[in-house]
Amino acid sequence: MTTTPAATDQRPRPPAPKPRTKPFNSLSFIWAMRKNPLSTYSQYHYEWPILAVKTILGTIAVINDADAIRRVLVQNHENYVRDSFQQRMLAPMVANSLLTAEGASWRRQRRSMAPLFSAQKVASFVPAMANAAAAMVTALKRHEDGKVVDGPREMARAAVGILDQTIFGDGIGADHGEVSRILDKFIDQMGQIDFADAFGMPEWVPRLSMWRTRKQRRFFPIFSEMILNARRARPREGGEPDIVSILLSRDPETGQRLFTDAEIQGNLVLFLTAGFESTANTLTWVAHLLSIDPVWREQVEAEADREMPDGRFPEDGIGRFPVARAVVEEALRLYPPVASIHRQAVGPDELCGQDIAPGTLVCVSTWLLHRHRSLWTDPEAFDPSRFMPGAREAIDRYAYMPFGFGPRTCIGASFALNEAIVIVASLARHFRLEAVPGHTVVPLQRVTLHQGNGLPLRLRHRHPA
Ligand code: HEM
Repeated sequence: MTTTPAATDQRPRPPAPKPRTKPFNSLSFIWAMRKNPLSTYSQYHYEWPILAVKTILGTIAVINDADAIRRVLVQNHENYVRDSFQQRMLAPMVANSLLTAEGASWRRQRRSMAPLFSAQKVASFVPAMANAAAAMVTALKRHEDGKVVDGPREMARAAVGILDQTIFGDGIGADHGEVSRILDKFIDQMGQIDFADAFGMPEWVPRLSMWRTRKQRRFFPIFSEMILNARRARPREGGEPDIVSILLSRDPETGQRLFTDAEIQGNLVLFLTAGFESTANTLTWVAHLLSIDPVWREQVEAEADREMPDGRFPEDGIGRFPVARAVVEEALRLYPPVASIHRQAVGPDELCGQDIAPGTLVCVSTWLLHRHRSLWTDPEAFDPSRFMPGAREAIDRYAYMPFGFGPRTCIGASFALNEAIVIVASLARHFRLEAVPGHTVVPLQRVTLHQGNGLPLRLRHRHPA
C-alpha cells in the first residue's frame, strides 16, 4: 500500500460521485454512462482487483490489479487494441494518427515522433514555456483585483499558448480562445456514448453526435491546411525540428514521405488536442484544489516567491519546484484527465484468474486505481505530501499511472508535467485564485475529465501595483 507520511484526517476531500448502491438495468446503465461514466462505479470497483460485468455494451472487465494491468498494457499488449467505441469517437478528429494507429503504422509514427519528446528536447522547451506563462500573467494582470474569471477557459488559453511556442514551431496560426472553444464543444459531444453505438446499430446509421459536431469537424481540415500553408510560405531549413517538420519529413534513403496526407492531418489535430486538453484540465483541477486548501496554496506561493524573485519562471528551474510538482501530481491522482484507458481483447486471455473472452472491453480506470482502497491511504483526501521527495519513491508504479503505461504510454508526459509546473508556479507568484462561494464542482468524464458545471475563480492580485 502507498502510505501517506502526513496525517490526512484534516485534509480537504474534494468532490467525487458517491459509489452507486443500486443495480442497473440496461437502459439505466446506458443513461448513466452517457451522463457520467464515473457515476456507474459501485463500492466494489474501489475495492476489488477485477470486476467483470455483462452489460448491453458487451462484457466489461474493470481491472485494478498490478499483474493484470501489466499483462494488458505491456506483456500481452498486442492482444489488446483500442476498442471500437473509442475508435469511432476519435476517428472524426484524429483518424490515422499516432493515437488511433495500430501495429506497424503505430510503430513507424511513434519512432518518428519520439525525438521531439526526448528528455533533452523537452528540457529545451522550458524557456519558451516560461515566455508563454509570462504572457498569461500579463493578460491576467489586465483584470481588476477580485474579478471572477472562467477557470477552464484561462487554463486552456495558457496550454494552447505553450503549444504555440514549442512543438508547433511557427505557432498554430489561429486565435487561442477560439481554438479551445471549438475543441471543447467537440470533445464534450463526442465523449458521450451514442445510443446508436450502445444498441449496436451498423456504421451507416447516422450518429447524433456526428450531427451535433458538424460545425466543429469542419475546423480540422482547415486547421491542418492553415499550418501547412504557413510552413510552405516559410520553410524551416536546418532549424530545430517541430511537429510539422517531422510530419513532412522524408526517408533519407528512398526520398519517400514518411507520413501520408491523412496521417499528417490526423496528427496535427491530435497534437493540438492532446497537447492542450489534458493539460488544461489538470491546471484547472490544480486551481480548484488550491482554492480549497490554504495550507498547500501558501506553500506553493512561498516556493514561487523564493524561486522567482524577478517574477519570471527560471529557464533551468524545473527541479527547483518540488511543491508545485507534488501538487500537480496529486491533482493528476485525484482527477486523472484520461480517467480510463480502454482496450478490447482480440484473442482469449486470463486476468486475475478469470477467463477473458475475445471482444471483452478491458478498462484500466485511473480514476478507480488512484482512489483504490487497497492501494492508497485515505484515497479521497487531497494530500500532495504523498508526492514530495522521500515519499514519492514509495508509490507503486501500478498504483499511479495518469499517463498510462507500456509502449502506448503518453508521449507528451514530461512535456505536460513541465508545462503544468511552469504555469502553476507562475500563477502562484502573481495571483491567488479563490473559490467562488456557492459554486459546486462536479467531475464529469468525457474524452477527458472536465469540471461538469465549469469553474469560476476569483482572481486576486498578490502584489497590487
Ligand atoms: C496532463 C496531461 C496529459 C495526460 C494526463 C495524458 C494522458 C495520456 C494517457 C493516459 C495516454 C495513454 C492512452 C492509452 O494508453 O490508451 C496518452 C497518450 C497520448 N498522449 Fe497524452 N496526456 C497528457 C498530455 C499530453 C501532451 C502534452 C501531449 C502532446 C504534446 C500528449 C500526446 C499524447 C499522444 C500522442 C498519445 C498517444 C500515444 C500512443 O498511442 O503512442 N499528451 N496520454
